[in-house]
Amino acid sequence: MTRNQQILLDNRPQGEATESNFRLVTAEVPALQDGQVLVRHHYLSLDPYMRGRMNDSKSYADAQPLGEVMIGGTVGEVVESRNPKFARGDQVVGMGGWQEYSVVDGDAPGMLRKVDTTHVPLSHYLGAVGMPGVTAWYGLVKIIAPKAGETVVVSAATGAVGSAFAALAKARGCRVVGIAGGPDKCRYATEELGFDVCIDYREHGDIKAMSRALKEACPDGIDGYFENVGGYILDAVLLRANAFARVAVCGMIAGYDGQPLPLQNPALILINRMKIEGFIVSEHMEVWPEALKELGTLVGSGKLRPRETVAQGLAAAPGAFLGLLKGRNFGKQLVKITP
Ligand SMILES: NC(=O)c1ccc[n+]([C@@H]2O[C@H](COP(=O)([O-])OP(=O)(O)OC[C@H]3O[C@@H](n4cnc5c(N)ncnc54)[C@H](OP(=O)(O)O)[C@@H]3O)[C@@H](O)[C@H]2O)c1
Repeated sequence: MTRNQQILLDNRPQGEATESNFRLVTAEVPALQDGQVLVRHHYLSLDPYMRGRMNDSKSYADAQPLGEVMIGGTVGEVVESRNPKFARGDQVVGMGGWQEYSVVDGDAPGMLRKVDTTHVPLSHYLGAVGMPGVTAWYGLVKIIAPKAGETVVVSAATGAVGSAFAALAKARGCRVVGIAGGPDKCRYATEELGFDVCIDYREHGDIKAMSRALKEACPDGIDGYFENVGGYILDAVLLRANAFARVAVCGMIAGYDGQPLPLQNPALILINRMKIEGFIVSEHMEVWPEALKELGTLVGSGKLRPRETVAQGLAAAPGAFLGLLKGRNFGKQLVKITP
C-alpha cells in the first residue's frame, strides 16, 4: 500500500486565515479501478482563489467542504494506469489537490492533461502556461482588447498572472505599467519582465499619492486596467482613466480576509464612459487552447521567463499559502511535493 500525505481543510477562518485551519493526515492510496490513473504530484500550485473557497459564503464556486483534501492544481507523473489514454511516465497537469498522490478518472473531461516538457518546464504548467497565464490572456485580449500604443496597467504585477500579462501586453505593442509591493519586485518588473514602469504601492499608500505616481507613469492616461488587488489602487486608476477605458476585474486580494473595499468615486465610471467587467477564467474554456499556445511560445522562446517561489514539502503548504496572501511570494507560488 502507498501512503499518501494530505492536507485537509479542518475548520473555516474567522477573519484572517491561519495554519490552524488546515490539518495534515496520512491516508492509503486505494487500488485503481478500470479507467483510473494514479498520479504522483511533483508540484502543487498555491493560488489566491483558495482563500475564497475556505469560506462558506455566497460565491461563484462552491465552498471547499470541511474534512476533505484542499482543492488545488498539480503537475506530476503517471505512476500506474488502468486507462489506455495514459501510460506510466506520462507528465500530466490536473486538479490533484493538496496531497502527494491522486487517483483520477482518466476519461472525465478536463480532469487530466498530458503536457510536453521539451521546451516548457513542468512547473510552468501551473503558472505562465497554465491557469494564471490564461487568466492574464483572457482579461487582456477579451476584455481590455488593447490597440498598439495604448497604456495598460496591472496590479500584483510580478505575480503569476501579472508577469504573464506583461509579456502578452508587450507583444501587442502596449505601454505596460505595473504596480507591485516593494523595490525588489519593482526592479524585477522593469529589468526582467519588460514593464515600462513599475510603481511601488508601499511608497504610494493612498489615493492621492498613487494617482500622482500613475500620472507620471502614464503620461497619455490609462486605457486598460487589469485589477488584481482592489481598494485605493482602483480609485487612483479611475482618476487617471481615459474616456472609454476598460477594466478587467480579475481579483481583489486586498479584501480576501474580509477587509472592506469601498469605491470612493464611482461617478468616474460614467464620466469616463468605462467598461468594467469581472470574469472567472474557468468559465471560458473555449479560449484556453489559443491562450496556452501563445503563452507556451512566449516561455519556450525565452520572451517570458516566469519566476517561482517554491516551498519544500507538503507540510509547508499552509504557511506558504498564508504568505502568498501577504505578498511574501515572488512570482508563482508552488510547493515541491516530491523530494
Ligand atoms: N478571475 C479569475 O479567474 C482569476 C484566476 C486566477 C487569479 N485570479 C486573481 O488574480 C490575482 C493574482 O493572482 P496570482 O495567482 O497571480 O497571485 P500572485 O500575484 O502570484 O500573488 C498574490 C500577490 O498579490 C499581492 N497582494 C497580496 N495582498 C495584497 C494587498 N493587500 N494589497 C496589494 N497587493 C496584495 C502580492 O503582491 P505584492 O507584493 O506586489 O503586493 C502577492 O504576491 C488574485 O487577485 C487572484 O485572485 C483570478
